[in-house]
Amino acid sequence: MICTAQPASEAAVAPTVSEEEVLTLSPERAVEIDVPRRWIREPRAIERSQFHRAESSRDRRRAQAETLCAVASSPGHDGGVADAFFENPRLARIYDPLHPDRSDLDVYVDLVDELGARSVLDIGCGTGTFACLLARRGVDVTAVDPARASLDVARSKGGAATVRWLHGDATSLPALDVDAAFMTGNVAQVFLTDDDWAATLHGIRAALRPGGVLVFETRVPARRAWEQWTPELTRTIVDVPGVGVVESWAQVTDVSGDLVTFRSTTTFRRDDVVLESVSTLRFRKRLHIEALLEREGFELSEVRDAPDRPGLEMVFLARRPDVTP
Ligand SMILES: C[S@@+](CC[C@H](N)C(=O)[O-])C[C@H]1O[C@@H](n2cnc3c(N)ncnc32)[C@H](O)[C@@H]1O
Repeated sequence: MICTAQPASEAAVAPTVSEEEVLTLSPERAVEIDVPRRWIREPRAIERSQFHRAESSRDRRRAQAETLCAVASSPGHDGGVADAFFENPRLARIYDPLHPDRSDLDVYVDLVDELGARSVLDIGCGTGTFACLLARRGVDVTAVDPARASLDVARSKGGAATVRWLHGDATSLPALDVDAAFMTGNVAQVFLTDDDWAATLHGIRAALRPGGVLVFETRVPARRAWEQWTPELTRTIVDVPGVGVVESWAQVTDVSGDLVTFRSTTTFRRDDVVLESVSTLRFRKRLHIEALLEREGFELSEVRDAPDRPGLEMVFLARRPDVTP
């Protein structure tokens, strides 16, 4: 799965190009109208031998699930900066078909019930699978994401009509007073600096009612998930209705401390367009996260395992205290 990083300057020009234009652009034309050059590649011959279905080994499925959540580091504090993979309409449209298994969300649906939450904020909602799932169960949902193209996909889903969709991030929220806030899909790892993470926690705390709970997951650094982000283990080939055959894979390009950078590549076979991008994620240790939560006025309730990814993820439950000190 492509999950891309892009500098704010590139993100700002991207939406000015229509999907059709992107499909037909030559590299020269891309430069002329200021499309991020790495979105476009010279068309290449399609090798018939590459038309095969991905093998369904356990390792490959796991690696694909891992990369599902690997996104970029573009904190969209102005509500307008988003990761190319989620912001590009063509890529946003294939996010769900490339990742049809969302059993990772089951634990969070159960948690909404366990917490008795009637109102929920979904931060980094992406294509809105979790938000719509909750809305169909009668939960009052507000969902926020800096990627407009992903929000457009989300709005077309069953249950979407009752969700309040916000274009932006946790630092640009209106008054909400929700019972619980969730970050699924390892959204917590997109915040590369502690300042960005702190600003996000600050915004979430303000959106929660006193006693409200923040729930989020993040990968266990010691399990070194990125070691499975190889072209061989992540390659996925899907025939998407209305889109055609799509091939996607990822490759780690750099590991520096707790920052992992990888390149993602997606090929649309129908017209042989290749979209490529680079992303960075932060793998914070548990103690580091706990310290930041405390600093932003949360009380840590619990750190759980993710039942569908045992030993690989930490699921944090942190509470906004009833009484502000
Ligand atoms: C891997 S996706 C997860 C989407 C969704 N939560 C899910 O489980 O399918 C990560 C999402 O984080 C969003 N994102 C990136 N930067 C963000 C930020 N600063 N604040 C909130 N969301 C952000 C991306 O646009 C993308 O939709």
